[in-house]
Amino acid sequence: MAKKIKKSKKKRVKKTMHKIVHSKHKIKHSIKHKIKRAVKHHKKMHKMHVKDARHKKHGGHGRQRRAGRRLINLVPRKKKKLIRVPLGIPNFDKLIQGGFEKNTTNLLVGGSGSGKTIFAAQFLVSGMKKGEKCLYVTFEEKKEQFYENMKEFGWDLEEYEKKGLFTFLEYTPIQVKTMLEEGGGSIESIILKKKIDRMVFDSITSFALLFEDELSKREAALALFGLIRGWNCTALLTLEEEPLARDKATSSALEFESDSIIILYFVRQRGERERYVEVMKMRGTKHSEKVYAFEIGKGGIIIKRPVSKFIPG
Ligand SMILES: Nc1ncnc2c1ncn2[C@@H]1O[C@H](COP(=O)(O)OP(=O)(O)O)[C@@H](O)[C@H]1O
Ligand SMILES: [Mg+2]
Repeated sequence: MAKKIKKSKKKRVKKTMHKIVHSKHKIKHSIKHKIKRAVKHHKKMHKMHVKDARHKKHGGHGRQRRAGRRLINLVPRKKKKLIRVPLGIPNFDKLIQGGFEKNTTNLLVGGSGSGKTIFAAQFLVSGMKKGEKCLYVTFEEKKEQFYENMKEFGWDLEEYEKKGLFTFLEYTPIQVKTMLEEGGGSIESIILKKKIDRMVFDSITSFALLFEDELSKREAALALFGLIRGWNCTALLTLEEEPLARDKATSSALEFESDSIIILYFVRQRGERERYVEVMKMRGTKHSEKVYAFEIGKGGIIIKRPVSKFIPG
């Protein structure tokens, strides 16, 4: 009997022992598992951190890339950065976000003696100083006289011509008309052959007068602007017109087609004539809306202070 009790006690002890060992093993196993999991997690986090840091370093968008190709099309494309062509007229470029937009057609309006030719020449000289190729097409200026006048501002056009950077072209409005009808002509071949960067038409007033009615003026303006757009150069067209007594019919087609309009005033104020400039329009540009006084000095045009009250006349 006593033997039987002893045996069952032994069995119970054995069972308890087994339980202890088993639970010990269980604890041990679970701790081991926990550690293993923690290490795994730590490794994963570390990997992600390194990957993220790498992305940041290369300016990438980790999340978008990780999300797969599908997202790529949903991400809006960055707007193409505009290339600006500085005019090089002191204090003017900052009024128009750094310059004309590259390959645009721009209009410079002003009365006789307002400074259009000087403004346009300064625009070309600033390009040539950087090695850009420039073309000056004129219906009014004579080459020698023009070169002489521009020397006054320290601009040696003869020198630029010798370097192959400057081309002076005398033209008649009739020739321009033919150019439009034939589509290109000699101006186009010069521009394409010489790879002209900046060009000036000084002035297109008489060209506009060749057309009688508004419709044909508009058609001609469209054709001219269409041609210039295909030439891959930044153009400045001057238009001789008294800004305060403007003949709307003559200029509206040209103004409508042009990418920007700059107006030069030469007005009598307090018994003296003073010069002012204003940017009337410039597509795609947050331009200044003020009127600025300017002077023609030794180095050409220089923009001065903005005027609070502009009362011309
Ligand atoms: N060297 C100079 N220094 C200062 N002002 C000048 C000089 N040369 C010309 N000007 C001024 O510029 C005016 C001519 O500018 P210009 O660009 O030929 O006018 P536009 O082409 O609009 O008729 C002249 O009437 C004169 O007042
Ligand atoms: Mg002129």
